[in-house]
Amino acid sequence: MSGTGTNLQALLDTVHGREAEVVAVAASVAGAPALARAERLDVPTAVFARSAYADRHVRDAALADWLAARGARLVVLAGYMELLDGAFLSRFPGAVINVHPSLLPAFPGLAAIEQALAYGVKVFGVTVHFVDAGVDTGAVILQRAVELPDAREPAQVLAALRPLEHELLPRAVALFARGALAADPENPRRTIVDPAVAEAVAETVAEAGADPGPAAGVARADEANRAGEG
Ligand code: GRF
Repeated sequence: MSGTGTNLQALLDTVHGREAEVVAVAASVAGAPALARAERLDVPTAVFARSAYADRHVRDAALADWLAARGARLVVLAGYMELLDGAFLSRFPGAVINVHPSLLPAFPGLAAIEQALAYGVKVFGVTVHFVDAGVDTGAVILQRAVELPDAREPAQVLAALRPLEHELLPRAVALFARGALAADPENPRRTIVDPAVAEAVAETVAEAGADPGPAAGVARADEANRAGEG
């Protein structure tokens, strides 16, 4: 991650030690508040700031090595505000997911909520998706909409979307951990979710879940460097 880490907190609160183990937390920004959330639970952390490496590819290789060495089998971009290169993705095939604060394919990339407000939409939403080489273009895993016909301020939309993110991202991680996600052979863009497992996972996450609450703002600590993920 790169910033506040409320989605990380949701994962730590709901799936960690239950449906999956959070084995490592990496940040692209030194001092990201998200790091402290992991440290409190003795989850190993490290910072992979782009400025510390010759280029993005060298950094992504170091990040992949570090995660692999800790046994990561799924990489969750929980507010990771940079793109990962193809070599990184090939180290974790079909096992990198992201949470994005819009109903993709609408409003990919940076400032999704601001984009949606500027467009004047009445329905906002959250998407959890697999990460591919594009910007927020991978196959959708879970998605949920919320009607906000009078929304004007990003903070208002963020407040409505945060609880959805904190529910859908843990659910997606638990579904992955249980092997309940499959690509539809007829259309690999379509992710088939085992409905029985989906129901069980929804209950588990809801029971475990104390919502970490709204963030101070849309996390964009590393926006200047960011190429478009998030
Ligand atoms: C979330 O809005 C997420 O959708 C986007 O980055 C933000 C991360 O927030 N990808 P947090 O750091 O988890 O609080």
